[in-house]
Amino acid sequence: MSAAASTPLTARAGGPLTGRIRVPGDKSISHRALILSAMTVGETLISGLLEGEDVLHTAAAMRALGARLERLEDGTWRVNGVGVGGFAQPAGPLDFGNSGTGCRLAIGAVAGCGITATFDGDGSLRKRPMRRILDPLVRMGARALEEAEGGRLPLTLQGAADPLPITYESPVPSAQLKSAVLLAGLAAPGETTVIEAEATRDHTEKLLKHFGAKIVSKPHGEHGRRIVLQGQPELEAAPVLVPADPSSAAFPLVAALLVPGSDVTFEAVMTNPLRTGLFTTLREMGASIEESDKRADGGEEVANFRVRTSALKGVDVPAARAPSMIDEYSILAVAAAFAEGDTRMRGLKELRVKESDRLEATAAMLRVNGVMVEIEEDDMIVHGMGANGVPGGGEVATHMDHRIAMSALMMGLASKQPVRIDDSGFIATSFPGFVETMRGLGADLS
Ligand code: S3P
Repeated sequence: MSAAASTPLTARAGGPLTGRIRVPGDKSISHRALILSAMTVGETLISGLLEGEDVLHTAAAMRALGARLERLEDGTWRVNGVGVGGFAQPAGPLDFGNSGTGCRLAIGAVAGCGITATFDGDGSLRKRPMRRILDPLVRMGARALEEAEGGRLPLTLQGAADPLPITYESPVPSAQLKSAVLLAGLAAPGETTVIEAEATRDHTEKLLKHFGAKIVSKPHGEHGRRIVLQGQPELEAAPVLVPADPSSAAFPLVAALLVPGSDVTFEAVMTNPLRTGLFTTLREMGASIEESDKRADGGEEVANFRVRTSALKGVDVPAARAPSMIDEYSILAVAAAFAEGDTRMRGLKELRVKESDRLEATAAMLRVNGVMVEIEEDDMIVHGMGANGVPGGGEVATHMDHRIAMSALMMGLASKQPVRIDDSGFIATSFPGFVETMRGLGADLS
């Protein structure tokens, strides 16, 4: 809800990017680890938690709902949960800052408890649709007592003391929506079923299993899943190890592909196939991304990635891949701008309801830096500059969107003229230490 002064930042081309880094913990898993451990009985230790602003807002909300959370000296988080259905009525509104994930998942968790809570966020979050999650939660017995126009925040929700299990066919490919229904379903008797036509990230399902819930996920149709959760489990505390976030690695990884002479190794990046569409696409474009030391790390697969500068060519990215790279289109558009030939990215409708209208914001970011781009309904076509190079020289409006901010800066590291962003402040929502990490690799950011 606070509005800090903006901090512009400029990226300039310089020497190669080199070194070895581990990007911060996965944002999706971090939110879920906090919310689910708050719903267990017992004490959970979480290591590798992302300490970005988004996740810290979720931690504060879990405290306000009665769970005990403590950060230990070594960076581990200790959570003492209240059990399924055990949240207490919070004393004031819950502020989720910029975070759609934290807010929507917490709404789902509260919907299954007989308490009333008000959910709010910053100017970006207040513009984002909440109706999509309220629809199934109302069917389960929750009530929206107050909401801003169009089903937006601030929203006051009265949870259901005795929630009903439902079978829900998700109308949009959204892991947040799926997760909200499953979290509410925890407190309902019997089976809560979510059917998704296109499989989205499955971290909620995996963590629920980890904490002892009975949950079964089966293929449904060509690309979908049918997920059945047995309600009213006793969730048991269990340690969580959060792997490095592939959506954060995406930014320095693309920069390493574009900046001449670069050679960067990324440690322990999560390779869950529902998150790695960007890497598949970049490889199709000709990117040199060598994977090694693939291993299991806290219930997820991880691998080290060695990335070297590569000549890229344009490709056609199928709509079916969108759920596995939904947060990566802005940085893919940057890679596409430097490629030889056109890149068409299909089925990007959901990008319009991210932290910004990210479809328009991405196109504007490229145009102001001399790259031709078109939006045709839900597709974006980037005309790659290839050997001519990207002119740069533009100032990018970031619209409170961390991913636009980081994408634009990565473009500036490889374009002919510097690229400036109007505000770097929102980068801290997902990637604390981003500027220092990039400078450590040799990037010129000032
Ligand atoms: C997320 C789901 C996606 C994604 C977001 C994180 C999650 O949102 O864009 O950054 O952790 O569940 P949608 O559920 O709106 O697709």
